Amino acid sequence: MTSDATMKKRGEVVLACPGNEDLARLLVGDAHELVEVEVRSFPDGESYIRIHGDLEGRDVTIVCTLHRPDRVFLQLALIAHTARDLGAARLCLVAPYLSYMRQDERFRQGEAVTSSYLARMFSVWFDELITVDPHLHRWKSLDEIYDIPTHHVSAAPSIAAWVAANVKQPLIIGPDAESEQWARSLATALDAPYVVLEKVRRGDRDVQVSGKLDVDLMQYSAVLVDDIVSTGRTMVEAIKVLLEEGFSAPICVAIHAVFSDDAALHVSRAGGAMLLTCNTIAHQSNGIDVWSEILQCWSSRHR
Ligand code: R5P
Repeated sequence: MTSDATMKKRGEVVLACPGNEDLARLLVGDAHELVEVEVRSFPDGESYIRIHGDLEGRDVTIVCTLHRPDRVFLQLALIAHTARDLGAARLCLVAPYLSYMRQDERFRQGEAVTSSYLARMFSVWFDELITVDPHLHRWKSLDEIYDIPTHHVSAAPSIAAWVAANVKQPLIIGPDAESEQWARSLATALDAPYVVLEKVRRGDRDVQVSGKLDVDLMQYSAVLVDDIVSTGRTMVEAIKVLLEEGFSAPICVAIHAVFSDDAALHVSRAGGAMLLTCNTIAHQSNGIDVWSEILQCWSSRHR
């Protein structure tokens, strides 16, 4: 074995779920080993999984962003179980986007509290979770629902760097109460003012956003920030409020580009100046890199 190969052999194994290969390669760097995961579908739609490498006794990280999760979850489960079966020691999940966080309470009789069920499953499959800005609302911390160590990377420094370089006199605006945590940390990083609007959600695609802004704030450039854009209705309604209040077209920033159906089109037609997201989910609106923050978080625990 060459000294290079020996060095890699001592490092960790990194596996990528389909579509996560680039981030996996970044984590691997020179010190770890990327092992191929073969995933294909049998003619009947079942998944075939094969891991092409030696995992015996080695720490393993699986990179898998959890966008459009229902299909991804099963493949992730099968890959994680295969890794264990092949002798993996510790299993870490790096999931830049952690989905299924919104159902954090039984709002109506009989509903599933999916955020906690996912946490229970992941706490069995994995020994550690690294993610980016999970949607924490009624859960104040992932520790309330996870039994394994969890670490979340904040996108705020990367977003703040982009805003500082591109927007003069920013005013940070959160479209609803849940977004206050992101608006506040971004405003703090920029030493800028922030305002939080009010949102009433009447249905999956039906939200109302309202708010009055002080005239003194008109001198600022509005930057709308939210963690997720899904149907885009929250952004659209928030843009309307800002335009009605007399602001020029706001810059819209979201951390996770979930974008269901034609959401991106709705947002762009609503009159925002631009729509920018972080690269936790691959999308044409990705303009803010958080992979270096993920790498830093992962590397500090996986030397
Ligand atoms: C929920 O409160 C989140 O922070 C987002 O505001 C929400 O997920 C956005 O959803 P949509 O784009 O469907 O309005």
